[in-house]
Amino acid sequence: MIVTPWEVSGEIDYSKLMEQFGTQPLTDSLLNRLKKYSGELHIQLRRGVFFSHRDLDWLLDKHDAGEKFILYTGRGPSGDVTLGHVIPWLFTKYLQDTFDAKLYFQMTDDEKFLVNQNLTLEDTLQLTYDNALDVLAAGFDPKKTCLISDVKNAQTLYKIGVEVAKHVTYSTAKAVFGFKESSNIGILFFPAMQAAPCFLESVIAGRNVPCLIPAAIDQDPYWRIARDAAPKLGYYKPAQMHCKFLPGLGKGGKMSSSMPETAIFTTDPPKVAEKKMMNAFTGGRATVEEQRRLGANPYICPIYYYELFLFEPDDAKLAEIERTCKSGDLLCGEHKASLAPKIVKFLNQYQERREKAKAVVSECFIDSCDKKLQKAMGLERF
Ligand code: TRP
Repeated sequence: MIVTPWEVSGEIDYSKLMEQFGTQPLTDSLLNRLKKYSGELHIQLRRGVFFSHRDLDWLLDKHDAGEKFILYTGRGPSGDVTLGHVIPWLFTKYLQDTFDAKLYFQMTDDEKFLVNQNLTLEDTLQLTYDNALDVLAAGFDPKKTCLISDVKNAQTLYKIGVEVAKHVTYSTAKAVFGFKESSNIGILFFPAMQAAPCFLESVIAGRNVPCLIPAAIDQDPYWRIARDAAPKLGYYKPAQMHCKFLPGLGKGGKMSSSMPETAIFTTDPPKVAEKKMMNAFTGGRATVEEQRRLGANPYICPIYYYELFLFEPDDAKLAEIERTCKSGDLLCGEHKASLAPKIVKFLNQYQERREKAKAVVSECFIDSCDKKLQKAMGLERF
């Protein structure tokens, strides 16, 4: 298994990842604690989609003591947005609603330009705008959500970025990110830019503000850098919650925009998405007769995981799908046919919200010229 910010492949063992990365499991006692704030637990918590964390207990202690935290997550605009990207965003919206939290959402157009030979800076900036519509369509409160384009809003992050960068040696960055002799120097500096939003609210507020980062676990290396630098700069270490990857429609592997035939995009016409799903790999048997006799395997089946991650909110119904799949009562064709209208409905609604986002998106980007912000950053002198 390979899990880095720029590559996820192989069969992923999440317990081993937690061990390797040194993160903590989301225990029942922590889940019970979260339940106190939101009533029912979010679907992704009940089902272990978010499964690991760092310092969540500390963060909740701070919250209980009256210190509000901010949320921080992001998107590398390298192409269209898939359902896989949307998973942690929907969870972040739940956190925003539950804790009435401000959200910083970073668009790393610099990163994607630097790592992708085929993308120009103009391409990634255009994708920042397009993807921002998808971000807002996840349902964030525009009044409490601040989008940051690394390129367009560089001034907002750069000062914090260089402060972080001074505390990260080449040898640490190389060990954490696997940089090579052939890596360009832009990407060597980039981790400092991704660390910067962790501390942005503290800079603006002029006092330490706790930060929680909900994100897929492949982003963890960045938070190691940020957490190392934090005490040296006088900030709190950012807390994290980590999620699993939504599988692609093929056999094994996460949903990835670089493999469009096995990915469902938020912008896919619903009928196209439905067709892709109908052609998906499943955990079924070679023949109907065999499946009736031996049952199928939901645990290797993307169709089952789509229900689990997103499309079947009712736990009892999900358990019934799991049971009838394993017993051979549910055939893959039938299962796909019942999932299709759920996908169509989801995409129709998403695309409607995406259209509406066009009216507000430009106001959601942070204003790097804002006088107050410039003052907080010590940049107002000239
Ligand atoms: N590097 C991330 C990506 O390629 C984008 C990103 C920036 C991000 N800041 C983040 C993701 C914070 C999660 C949390 O997708």
